[in-house]
This record gives sequence, structure tokens and C-alpha cells, in this order.
Amino acid sequence: PTVGIVGCPFSGGQGRTGVDLAPNKLISAGLVDQLSALGWEVHYNSQQKYIDIPYNPIPASSPAAPSEGTETFNGGSTSGSGSADKKIQRLPDEDIGKMKKPRLVSAVNQKVAQEVEEIAQKGWLPLTLGGDHSLAMGTVSGTKAKYPDACLIWVDAHADINTPLSTDSGNLHGCPVSFLLGLEGTDVSPFSEWLKPCLKPEEIVYIGLRDVDGPEKEILKKHGIKAFSMHHVDKYGIGKVVEMALDHVNPDRSKPIHLSYDVDALDPIVAPSTGTPVRGGLTFREGHYITEALAETGCLVSVDIMEVNPALLDPSSVEKTVAAGCSLARASLGETLL
Ligand code: ARG
Ligand code: MN
Ligand code: MN
Ligand code: MN
Repeated sequence: PTVGIVGCPFSGGQGRTGVDLAPNKLISAGLVDQLSALGWEVHYNSQQKYIDIPYNPIPASSPAAPSEGTETFNGGSTSGSGSADKKIQRLPDEDIGKMKKPRLVSAVNQKVAQEVEEIAQKGWLPLTLGGDHSLAMGTVSGTKAKYPDACLIWVDAHADINTPLSTDSGNLHGCPVSFLLGLEGTDVSPFSEWLKPCLKPEEIVYIGLRDVDGPEKEILKKHGIKAFSMHHVDKYGIGKVVEMALDHVNPDRSKPIHLSYDVDALDPIVAPSTGTPVRGGLTFREGHYITEALAETGCLVSVDIMEVNPALLDPSSVEKTVAAGCSLARASLGETLL
């Protein structure tokens, strides 16, 4: 089997820099060799991407002209200066309604959707390394273009189903699911120019929720979206929860599965270096069990590992979080304990 790693050094869907450093960190930690050792043919294109997007404010903390193999694409608020800037025209990215950096998030996700689709069309498994979770607009769109009947398993402390109308923060990493579903308020430019609603409410299931905004709770209820919160994990155990989640979106275990994994689903003790940690999360084993069980179905066709932020907290916290990102990726691609 072949995996195509899509490194997305992007932080524009939320306010903290550093989440854009995760793809290189995960790769530096040895992910390519680890997946090869599992028997995968691994393709990883480390060319810098997105640099030509005119709304990309190159951060002062990054080299203006990244050296080869360096991906610089942060979406931070600092506007850059330097040689790369002279070639690429920079355009302002004003808020649209409550949405922050809408043009940047849209343009990046359009490219991510193309890249994920291209990899999937070859019959390879796209493994997307975020970056913030707004990138799932692109990854799920790309997966759905190849596999229209794919279901989506969203592992997260958060529902990320705010709409441009309901969002309090304006951060688009809290909104990708509403765009994929085509909820009220998501038919807005620039997203509407490429992002077509591709997901039905019955095709998604959540695991790990524990910080859901009031309007998000209403949206989940209104559309009858299945969600297993940490309360359900406590009540039934993770084994039963994964089984019930699969029974809901994939009763015959016959449909392709896209797994979108936000590392903040894990307890902050396990994955501390992430932008929006919430206590009371999945243990190390619960978090990995989900990926192992999904790998066992043989239905996984696309995987996202999102929201690792190597710029947060101390080196030991970063190491733990990066290691967890790598081990979740490995377990998703079939690593077993025996
Ligand atoms: N619900 C909050 C918001 O809309 C937090 C979202 C956190 N999302 C994430 N991908 N970590 O801003
Ligand atoms: Mn989250
Ligand atoms: Mn909250
Ligand atoms: Mn998320």
C-alpha cells in the first residue's frame, strides 16, 4: 500500500502561531521511516507550498525566502518583508462578517482539497499533517471527490461545527464541519467559489467531545448528528463507543472512512502542546484504540492528524505531543501491539 503525506504548515484558522511547525516536526521525529517499517510505500513532498497565495502574510519569525525543503505558511498576523515578498503581491485579508482570514483559509483549503484528491485518485491513502483543523474543509472535500460515499469520523474535544453566523471566536478552525455540510451561512464567498457541500449529517460521527459551544449544541440537535462525548466514553468504554460510532455511519463496514483526528481529543496530560486544550480527555490508550479499531476495519482511506503545536509549552510537552501525533498516524496505518 502507498501513503501520500500532505504536510500543511498552516495556522490561519486560529490565532496562535506554531501549529504550522507541526508537519516538519512530525517528519523530523521519523514518521516517514516509521510508516515504511509498517510496509507502506511513503511519498512525502516537502516542497514549499501555498507561498504564492497573495493573502499569505509571511511571518517575521520565518525566513522570508525559505530554504529548500522548508515549508513556510503560517497565516500569522505579522506581515513579512524580504525577497520572497518582492515577487509575490500581498493583499489584505479583512474579516468577512465574523470570519477571520477568510481568503487565506479558503485559498489554502482549495489547494489542500486538490492535493488530497490527487493522492486519493492514485489509490493512495492521503495522510494530512496539520496545521489547524480548518484544513479539514480541504481534506474532507478532497476525499469525498474520490469517494462520494465516504463517512467521516471526527475525533476531537470540539465539534468544529460553528457557522460563520454562530462563531464567537471567528476562528475558522471551529467551523470546518458546517462548511462541509453546507449549513446556513456557509454559502459565502470566497468559500462558495470552490467548496461544495459534500457531507450529509448522517455521514459524520464524533468521538471525544467535551467543549461544545451553545450554538453548536443546537446545530447538532437540529440536524440529528451523532456524537459520543467523553460522558459516553466513560459510560460505555471506548470499545463500545467505536463500535456504536461505526454502526451509525458504516453499519456494514463497507464504506470508505475518512478519519479527522484533532490531538486535543487526547487529554492534555497526553497531548499538552495544542492550541485549545480541554481537560478530561481521552487517555493515551483510548485515543490509540480508536485508530487501531478503524485500521482493523480495512475501510480507512484518508487520515488527518491536526492541531499539534510545537511552539507551546516546554520541550518535554512538545516531545510528548509530537510522539502522540506520530503514534496515532502509525496506529491508523495498521501498527498493532502484537
Ligand atoms: N468552539 C471554539 C471556536 O469556535 C473552539 C474551536 C476549537 N477547534 C479546534 N479545531 N481546536 O472557536
Ligand atoms: Mn479540538
Ligand atoms: Mn469553549
Ligand atoms: Mn478540531
